[in-house]
Amino acid sequence: MQDAQSHSSISQSAIWKQLQARVPEVQQRRLADLFSEDPARASNFSLELPEFLLDYSKSQLDRSVLANLLDLAREANLEQWRADFFAGKPINATEGRPVLHPALRGGLAQDVEIEGVSVTRQVSAELERLKEFVVLLHNGDLTGYSGKRITDVVNLGVGGSHLGPQTAIEALRAHRKGDVAVHFVSNVDGAQLTDVLAGLDAESTLFIVSSKTFTTSETMTNARSALKWLQRAAPELSAESLLQQHFVAVTASPDAAQKFGVLPARVFRFWDWVGGRFSLWSSIGLPIAIACGFENFRALLDGAAGMDRHFREAPLHENAPVIMALLSVWYCTFMGYPAHAVLPYEHALHMLPAYLQQADMESNGKSTTRAGVEVNYTTGPLIWGQTGINGQHAFYQYLHQSPEVVPADFIGSVAPGHDLEGHHEILLANMFAQSQALMNGVDAESVARELAAKGLSPEEIKRLTPFKVHRGGKPSNTILLKELSPRSLGALIALYEHKIFAQGAILQIYSFDQWGVELGKGLASKLEPKLASGSLAGEDGSTAQLIEYYRRISGAVTSTGLPEVEAAEPAGEQV
Ligand code: F6P
Repeated sequence: MQDAQSHSSISQSAIWKQLQARVPEVQQRRLADLFSEDPARASNFSLELPEFLLDYSKSQLDRSVLANLLDLAREANLEQWRADFFAGKPINATEGRPVLHPALRGGLAQDVEIEGVSVTRQVSAELERLKEFVVLLHNGDLTGYSGKRITDVVNLGVGGSHLGPQTAIEALRAHRKGDVAVHFVSNVDGAQLTDVLAGLDAESTLFIVSSKTFTTSETMTNARSALKWLQRAAPELSAESLLQQHFVAVTASPDAAQKFGVLPARVFRFWDWVGGRFSLWSSIGLPIAIACGFENFRALLDGAAGMDRHFREAPLHENAPVIMALLSVWYCTFMGYPAHAVLPYEHALHMLPAYLQQADMESNGKSTTRAGVEVNYTTGPLIWGQTGINGQHAFYQYLHQSPEVVPADFIGSVAPGHDLEGHHEILLANMFAQSQALMNGVDAESVARELAAKGLSPEEIKRLTPFKVHRGGKPSNTILLKELSPRSLGALIALYEHKIFAQGAILQIYSFDQWGVELGKGLASKLEPKLASGSLAGEDGSTAQLIEYYRRISGAVTSTGLPEVEAAEPAGEQV
């Protein structure tokens, strides 16, 4: 799987040094000049795929830097890593697993067997179960303890067991099917569960406990509180029967789900070769299939499979995820831009920045190379953003005039997701204008001319000009979807997934583990009893003070609020 080359640090390679040497020269060049030097730049630096146009012509590089970056990808053996990924080799080496989320959507070139079992066969069988369940639910054939049909489904899950499904359901609001409402509770802050449950009727509510490990304390706490809520509504019934009728589990630890009390027929599984943040294509997507119908869920999978094919087969220089990865490596690792903004000009995509935060940062926020030594370069950007129009009236000032450069992805679609006249043109014009303004800026001369045309005095012009100058030179990509559909959404999310993988492979890190989330989780479970006991021996001064303050103001906790229903035994599995 790994060759000799991948063990030597990429940052020692000649091509790495060549790229480093090019940074000062590129920083001097105006983005606008790149267009005059290369009249065909817009089309040369664009890729048209079945679902969208990726225009990366407003990027801070020319053909020769791009050629160098492609050489870097070759030096890093990206093509071999890509082949190993799709062949099911254990590329998640620190957890000793393959990474096969493309198999969930039919994105492999060839079936892979894990421990002698066909991955494709397992996936199809589980999808079939999912489909049957959704039909049952949509037909009103699923009833609660009193015989009332299930009308509301609450997904209890966090991170990858929440963000993908909710992001997709929000994005596909124009593609809803059936009349079962889907709600999400991800936070262990009881306020969220309380709010959601306040509007629901216990008799007709079904809970999906979505957890790969079935040990995540936030999710299990919510699941136990949901059961208590049902018990309060139906005190005559046993916890066992409520669990059987009102709970479904989606997990890679089916035994733990059954131990919790979910009926085997209601346990939908996925596998440890699916990373939590890449799991929306698995049974974790059940809420999507409920909200949008199984056919739309299938179309989402098909769109992603199309992107798998593209990533697998397209040569590096025509490969959209690879190009996006190289741009990110260029900006973040070489140019030193630490952040990257995701700016959807499509309200339905409002959760995409949050989704990509987990997908990208939990994957590439690392500081150890595959060889187990500390990196001497940055491995990935801080991802942030929100819908573009709202951002324009909030943080775009920073994008335009702060000395920092924040590369951005603008994402919109040609077809509006509504039929209100005039809105879409305004929306798209804003998106196009913003990337243009970031690229070109406005220089002092133009500002002065504009102010003079408004009749300002020379003194006033001199005084105001510095404040109105925009340096420009801020790069961006634009992804223009033909329309936002289940298919194009699948392609868009898979584009980012493969960009993340390619970036990690080039920078010689393992993108599919997430050890960095374990430390805090462990500490929280140790501190939790101390909130009640007040025994603070061994705690640092700040933490001890915070706990003491909490205890003093709250009147000290007498109960930890431990659940009455016993938690499933930890399956001891990493996500
Ligand atoms: O945040 C850490 C993490 O392990 C994620 O990788 C995962 O998506 C999330 O927790 C939820 O884990 P689980 O699905 O096992 O409850």
